[in-house]
Amino acid sequence: MQISKRLAQVNPSATLAMSQKSAQMKAAGADVLDLSVGQPDFETPKNIEEAAIAAIKAGKTSFYTAATGLPELRQAIADQIKADTGYSYDTKQIVVTNGAKFALSSLFESILSDGDGVLLPQPGWVSYTEQVRIAGGEPQLVYPKSGLKVTIDDLDQVATDRTRAIVINSPSNPTGMIYSKQELTLIGNWAVRHNVLIISDEIYGKLVYNGNTFTSMLTLDPSIAENTVLIGGVSKTYAMTGWRIGFAAAPKKVATAMATVISHMTGNPAAVSQYAAIEAYTGDQATVETMRSAFEKRLNTLYPLIKAIPGFELDEKPQGAFYLFPRVKDAVVALGYDTVDTFVAALLEETGVALVSGRAFGMPEHIRISYAKDMDTLLDAADRITKFVEKSN
Ligand SMILES: Cc1ncc(COP(=O)(O)O)c(C=O)c1O
Repeated sequence: MQISKRLAQVNPSATLAMSQKSAQMKAAGADVLDLSVGQPDFETPKNIEEAAIAAIKAGKTSFYTAATGLPELRQAIADQIKADTGYSYDTKQIVVTNGAKFALSSLFESILSDGDGVLLPQPGWVSYTEQVRIAGGEPQLVYPKSGLKVTIDDLDQVATDRTRAIVINSPSNPTGMIYSKQELTLIGNWAVRHNVLIISDEIYGKLVYNGNTFTSMLTLDPSIAENTVLIGGVSKTYAMTGWRIGFAAAPKKVATAMATVISHMTGNPAAVSQYAAIEAYTGDQATVETMRSAFEKRLNTLYPLIKAIPGFELDEKPQGAFYLFPRVKDAVVALGYDTVDTFVAALLEETGVALVSGRAFGMPEHIRISYAKDMDTLLDAADRITKFVEKSN
């Protein structure tokens, strides 16, 4: 039995694997605190759930919709983008997908020919690399010379004449860092100059804390905005990971290509989820702020606790998303582990705290801690990690 050659280098999602492992341990009765997964712990707001139920009861959800989504939903997304950034899209440029995950992978399928390169700043979300490989492309990993954000000098080191696109994810999973307007402008102009498509994954754009500001790629010079595919979705902002609704907002040619891919691969995302998403985008937005401020409190509580653990290096406080990404290599070596991976495994085994090794995000000397959990769980987890490190010392 043969498996595709393309898959030879593709790894399953390390974050999903870790959360599955911790779920299994929990089901077997272990006392597990799962800080591995990147999803809000909140239930979807009631108005959104009720809109979905009403759509079912009204008989609206039994049939296929347009493969790229209901016109009302595409309009609602275009309206929200316009309100947030001032940039206008025609609804034909909005492609609704099964989660932002599929917006990205159908985009790669649409724009890449075999061997085409995509610049992927590191550390970066686990799926970009593998999705590019699945689409036959070449991940071009860009490591920052210093810190956790790339500059155009770093891009110059890696770009080739096969480079077709760059993915920018701000606020970032796994670092929580936000690129400033100035940093984004430099990168945006670089991409325009080199005829490289910008894929701006702004899925955490509403999760920004402590007075920091987030800049959307669409608010920069029109030459940059017109060369950008915006990726977004309801998963993180509206606590809707299970509903699987994301989108791409793209130049017409790209949106049309994506529509073709999607029409063969999935057809439309579940109709009921689309009705829920319409309510998310057009209904009462108060819950967005309630959840954002809860994440902010958690960040402000957890950050000093994790930073205080001996050997955990976390100089810059994250500004958005819901992750901490400390460098822990020196600490784990001092504790007698040869890699961060073995440390993460031992931590789970002995304390029940599930984290993800930075290897999955391209930086194996770090760990990723998700704080999308209630405060008691976070305090308990910080206490267990601290005791584990101090005891081993
Ligand atoms: C940076 C980033 N982009 C995209 C996604 C995909 O989100 P979804 O498919 O739930 O919309 C995630 C989810 O973890 C993410 O962290």
